[in-house]
Order: sequence, then structure tokens, then C-alpha cells
Amino acid sequence: MQKTFYVVGNLKMNMLSCDEAGQYLSVLKREMRGREFSFTQGVICPSFLYLSLFDHLPSGLTKGAQNLFPEKSGAYTGEISPVMLKNDGVTHVILGHSERRLYAGETDEDVREKVLAALKYHLVPVVCIGETKEERAREETEEVLLRQVKAVFDGLSKLQAESIMIAYEPRWAIGTDVLPTTSEILQVRVFLRKFLTETFDASVAERVVILYGGSVKSSFLPAISWEAQVDGVLVGRESLFPYELVKMMEMFENEAKKEKTKKRI
Ligand code: 13P
Repeated sequence: MQKTFYVVGNLKMNMLSCDEAGQYLSVLKREMRGREFSFTQGVICPSFLYLSLFDHLPSGLTKGAQNLFPEKSGAYTGEISPVMLKNDGVTHVILGHSERRLYAGETDEDVREKVLAALKYHLVPVVCIGETKEERAREETEEVLLRQVKAVFDGLSKLQAESIMIAYEPRWAIGTDVLPTTSEILQVRVFLRKFLTETFDASVAERVVILYGGSVKSSFLPAISWEAQVDGVLVGRESLFPYELVKMMEMFENEAKKEKTKKRI
């Protein structure tokens, strides 16, 4: 089965006006002009405030959100419903990002509830997991990742499980330009595969999309993506440059064409 590769751009709390967001979008559309993507999907996740500007994206791109509240509607001041996102044309939603775990105090249980809400309303959850620098130093990476994935996947049906995308984003690699090695990322991929095979089966493990995130740049793609055998990337700072984002999509597209002849784990 030929997999789709993903380049997810997390624009975070950037762009300070509709004008600025609009300019970004025009450049993005210009960069996409004349390009065709058969094996690569880009997902662009702006602030909630600008989501409606990101309608009518060029083919190959869809829009995503950076969070949701796990209720359909009601007295939840300041929150955004998964149904609002769905009705606005959002396809994917980043959940459990370490910045939300850190600044908004989101727990594994909160992330699980949000994932269930996303699945219920047919949004693809992009679930972020990752260890801190201290946890890594104590060699607790797998323990932390296991706790985070168990919280999300336990009790799900196979169909629910395979609709989830996992983004391995070590906290210490976000915004730092310090990256894990190819073999560290590959090790996490193998670990997640094993967890999914044991919890569900090999076919679920094969279908769940696994991304890498944290200081991603196009120049690092070979090492952190195809050599590490992940299915795509979650990009922060570099996604603020449409040229870079589209370049990454193109690199994945070219790799996908070669992939057909390669064997993955
Ligand atoms: P950077 O790519 O800026 O390190 O951010 C990664 C990230 O948090 C994406 O969600």
C-alpha cells in the first residue's frame, strides 16, 4: 500500500492581523501554483481567528486547527467546538501539543477526551507526544511515550485507532535547533509500531501515521524522515515560510515516488 506523506504546518500564535495572514496565504498559493501532489498532503494550521481565510486552498493542502474543546456546544466560554471546526472545513486538529500541556495544563486524560471528540465529529487528531529534556536524561523516554499513547489508545476500536496520527515531538527539540538522531527517531517509530501491534494488530500499526516534529527544516528531511522511516513532519517555525513548507511537500513527493521500490519496517 502506498502511504500518503504529511507535512503539517503549525503556525502557532503567529501573524498579528488578518492582513498578515492574508499575505502569508497569497504567498503560499503562489508557491503551490503549477505543482501536483499525488502522495503528499499538506495541512496548514493557523490560529482559530484566521481559519475562515484559509478556505479554497490549492489541491494538496487542507486546513487544520491547533486545539478544540471536547463538547459539541454550550456554556464553555472562550472554547471552540469540534463541530464548529468541522463545519468550517477543518480536516485535522493538533491535540496534546507540549505547549498546551505546559501552558494550559492539559493532562493525558484531557488529551484523550479531546481525541474522542475529534473522532466523534470526523476530524483527524494529530496527537503530540514527547518527553522533556529531564526525562530523556533519566532515560525515561519510552516510559513517558507509553503513558501518553496508552492514555489515548486504550479502549479504542481498531477503526478509531487507525484514524489517529501520532506526532513524536520531543519537548527539548521544539524551538531549539537540537534534534534527535535518525536512530533515536527510528527507535521511537519501532516502539510505537510495537505498541500498536500489541494493542490492536499489525494492520492498525501499519496504518497509523507517525510524524516527527521539533526543529524541522527541509535540509534535515532525509535524516529525520525517510532514513527514520516516519510518515511526515509537524513543522513549527519553518512553516511560517511558505516556500519552505512547499519545498518539504515536494521533497516528500519525490521520496514517495522512490518509496514504491523500497521496503519499510
Ligand atoms: P519548531 O519547528 O519551531 O521547533 O516547532 C515544532 C512544533 O512545536 C510543531 O508543533
